[in-house]
Amino acid sequence: MQLRFIPLLSLITPLLAASTPDPNPILTAINTISSDTTALNTTVASWDGNALTLLEITVQSAKLLAAINDGTKTANKAANLTLAQTLDVATATVSLATGVNQTITTIVSAKPKFDKLLVVDPVILLNLKLEQDASRDFSAAVVAKVPADLQAIAQGLTQGIDDSFSEGIAVYETW
Ligand SMILES: *[C@@H]1O[C@H](CO)[C@@H](O)[C@H](O)[C@H]1NC(C)=O
Ligand SMILES: *[C@@H]1O[C@H](CO)[C@@H](O)[C@H](O)[C@H]1NC(C)=O
Ligand SMILES: *[C@@H]1O[C@H](CO)[C@@H](O)[C@H](O)[C@H]1NC(C)=O
Repeated sequence: MQLRFIPLLSLITPLLAASTPDPNPILTAINTISSDTTALNTTVASWDGNALTLLEITVQSAKLLAAINDGTKTANKAANLTLAQTLDVATATVSLATGVNQTITTIVSAKPKFDKLLVVDPVILLNLKLEQDASRDFSAAVVAKVPADLQAIAQGLTQGIDDSFSEGIAVYETW
């Protein structure tokens, strides 16, 4: 029953968004990526190891990838961040980095469950690589909008996210 409302909502949401310009679209993009990351974390953590429900992980992972790519487009279009906006973006980035760390830790812990289904590990590996690449593009697009004298610090904040991906990729590359 509830599923019927989803297409309607997805039509209405952009209309609502269009009526009031977002004061910090980069922050909104990071928050969307964070909630998609948490959703993937929950999906993987609660996965019962069944091949049929694996689709939920694939769907959630694709949703996260799309959110990161949308974030890059948003950041490319966005105006330079003010100092106040930069601080909000930095706070959200620190929290995203924690979420990414925990989610990749969950994905690494779930490897024994994935190992049982032969073809799955390469798919997880591919997803991690696609998400790492997308997240590098996103970070670069965001850092470019940070005040010039804070760009090195901003770059440093995003490095932790990249390191988490590398850690997960290393685990899935040796199977
Ligand atoms: C990710 O899942 C783990 C295991 O359920 C949980 O401990 C952690 O708090 C979760 N983190 C996030 C950001 O959802
Ligand atoms: C945005 O900031 C960059 C430095 O980070 C600067 O080179 C560029 O000129 C700025 N753009 C505008 C429109 O102010
Ligand atoms: C998560 O953070 C901890 C503490 O900094 C670190 O030891 C661990 O390697 C990180 N794991 C991932 C997957 O990022």
